[in-house]
Amino acid sequence: MTKSNSRGTLVAGNWKMFKNLAEARQLATDILAGLPRQESTRPTVGFFPNAVALAAVAEAANGRESQVLVGAQNLYHEPEGAFTGEISADMILSAGARGVVLGHSERRHIFGETSEQVGRKVARALEAGLIPVLCVGETLEEREDGRTENVVEEQLLGGLADLSPEAASRVVIAYEPVWAIGTGKTATPEQGQAVQQFLRTRLGDHLGSAELADGIQILYGGSVKPANAKDLIAQPDIDGFLVGGASLDADSFLKICAATA
Ligand code: PGA
Repeated sequence: MTKSNSRGTLVAGNWKMFKNLAEARQLATDILAGLPRQESTRPTVGFFPNAVALAAVAEAANGRESQVLVGAQNLYHEPEGAFTGEISADMILSAGARGVVLGHSERRHIFGETSEQVGRKVARALEAGLIPVLCVGETLEEREDGRTENVVEEQLLGGLADLSPEAASRVVIAYEPVWAIGTGKTATPEQGQAVQQFLRTRLGDHLGSAELADGIQILYGGSVKPANAKDLIAQPDIDGFLVGGASLDADSFLKICAATA
């Protein structure tokens, strides 16, 4: 399958648990100042700050919604209730945000989220009208045991469980090999492409439509930097990036955006 122009590219910054309110607002402002204005059918840039900073970052991006997707890093699948410490899809929307990262490897490995829980969150996000970015990825041990495809497939299908093909086609997927996250060890473009092509093929089987799968954005994440972005984005099934460390600095994030333009 070749890269279809209709998918476009998305470079999303996962700011993780970095930047307080003032710092997050400043980072958004600095990136927006350096980003050439553009109207697009799908956002090309994403900011995923912590929940405290979400409204301020959404406000900074006000008027540039067609270009910039602002989102949260997690949600809880219930509409509301006695769930101390959690945030709901409606709360995210009320902050002016329209996206949410779900099933990030730090959520899975540090906080023990299962694919079943992630699936409920993805379904809730879509129901509420948020764009979910569903993350999948294998650990080093799983890769060395030859289980990469089994692991990402289980996470992919668990994340899309019970969705209609039409709903599932609105999800953005991010392939993030756990061994490449925050380690400086990027997957080679060929390693990224191989898994992302596998994911697209499985999406086609699962949705019963290669055409729908061909329209789904699959991002790569794991030590993406200005220096490696160009080679990675040249791969046919890499439609953009989920960037951690390098998204915390406006200049390096803008360089990655420019590499994909
Ligand atoms: P990294 O993080 O770019 O710092 O490796 C990526 C991510 O966790 O989304």
